[in-house]
Amino acid sequence: MKTTIRQIGSHVEETVIIGAWLANKRSSGKIAFLQLRDGTGFIQGVVVKAEIGEEKFQKAKELTQESSLYVTGMVRADDRAPSGYELSVTDFEVIHEAADYPITPKEHGTEFLMDHRHLWLRSRRQHAVMIIRNEIIRATYEFFNREGFVKVDPPILTGSSAEGTTNLFHTKYFDEDAYLSQSGQLYMEAAAMALNKVFSFGPTFRAEKSKTRRHLIEFWMIEPEMAFMDHEESLEVQEQYVSWIVQSVLKECPQELKALERDTAVLEKIQAPFPRISYDDAVTFLQKEGFEIEWGEDFGAPHETAIAESYDKPVFITNYPKDIKAFYMKPHPDREDVVLCADLIAPEGYGEIIGGSQRIDDEELLKQRYEEHNLSEEAYQWYLDLRKYGSVPHSGFGLGLERTVAWISGIEHVRETIPFPRLLNRLYP
Ligand code: 4AD
Ligand code: MG
Repeated sequence: MKTTIRQIGSHVEETVIIGAWLANKRSSGKIAFLQLRDGTGFIQGVVVKAEIGEEKFQKAKELTQESSLYVTGMVRADDRAPSGYELSVTDFEVIHEAADYPITPKEHGTEFLMDHRHLWLRSRRQHAVMIIRNEIIRATYEFFNREGFVKVDPPILTGSSAEGTTNLFHTKYFDEDAYLSQSGQLYMEAAAMALNKVFSFGPTFRAEKSKTRRHLIEFWMIEPEMAFMDHEESLEVQEQYVSWIVQSVLKECPQELKALERDTAVLEKIQAPFPRISYDDAVTFLQKEGFEIEWGEDFGAPHETAIAESYDKPVFITNYPKDIKAFYMKPHPDREDVVLCADLIAPEGYGEIIGGSQRIDDEELLKQRYEEHNLSEEAYQWYLDLRKYGSVPHSGFGLGLERTVAWISGIEHVRETIPFPRLLNRLYP
């Protein structure tokens, strides 16, 4: 019976056929161990000369790495195997004999691996990260569907910017100028006025000249937007959502977390509610810790890491100065100088995974911001309309998928959290 490695547990002591690639092998005079992978998992195939015959055994020993095969064998439960099972191979058929595979089982440098990303994805570690990424996406849809959100797809090609004009990707749209979306937020606000609670999931682009472990040029964002919701209520959705995806990964991906040697005890603790600290208090804290930072300055990675170290859960830093945040954020009711916003900082030095805020709902104030930020009223007229026809308090946020995958997987750099990363100097493969 044809099956997959993932399903193999329901065929113990049965003979099965799997399509697989040879990830690695080792052999002696009488026995060969084939490390097989089929994309759904990894399993060891055991080939015994006395059972399979001289000729087939010789063929098994000569198999090249990444050759594709149909393998027939008896499924054995085995507690010592990482997957819990082993395959006693009774026969195999070579589909394609692979040429010399560049990614040998020895260590390789990062640039070499990045040049071979299309092949590197097959490795156990990269496989585990992609499965976890998929689980986070699945759990995201599950969470927002359950909570009554409608999935809405904002455009990728836009005529205006959402998050400032310094890192826009410019392109031509026939005779007009266009930009790749930095965030779907402004469109999601329009959608929330039509559908109440909405979320998007899509690619976003920022021509950021940053070469850090947290920055990609192309990354994927989940952007919920909620009508009739204030900032506090939005923070509650955020902590529920983040707890949900972490707990889902723990439940659905134990083998992948194990393959990544992730410390799951720290993830078990990620349960709502999350702590909150105001920007003001964060600055005071940092000054006490010896950082040279003044009120009004933005936080960098070292600041975020220092703040996060005081907690074993993600922490919300709330109410940043208006001057270092986006034009659309609603001012604090008691203070003109700060806005109703929060960044959610992940533990263990992974930095900001969410940026969110309550949005300005007053037409006059928004017009004033257009002037202060040099935004053309023409390009943003439609956005102003949302404050003209039944304006309501509304809030939303954006979660960066890759930083979240990095944190939950315990991966140092975001380049390993997306199948084909776009980095400052990498557009290949
Ligand atoms: O904080 P940001 O810029 O917020 C927005 O874009 C809002 N419009 C979202 C909203 O309210 N709908 O970005 C949101 C998140 C960050 O917290 C971070 O996780 C991620 O997107 N992010 C990046 N991830 C990888 N590479 C980059 N260059 C990123 N820039 C932001
Ligand atoms: Mg931000």
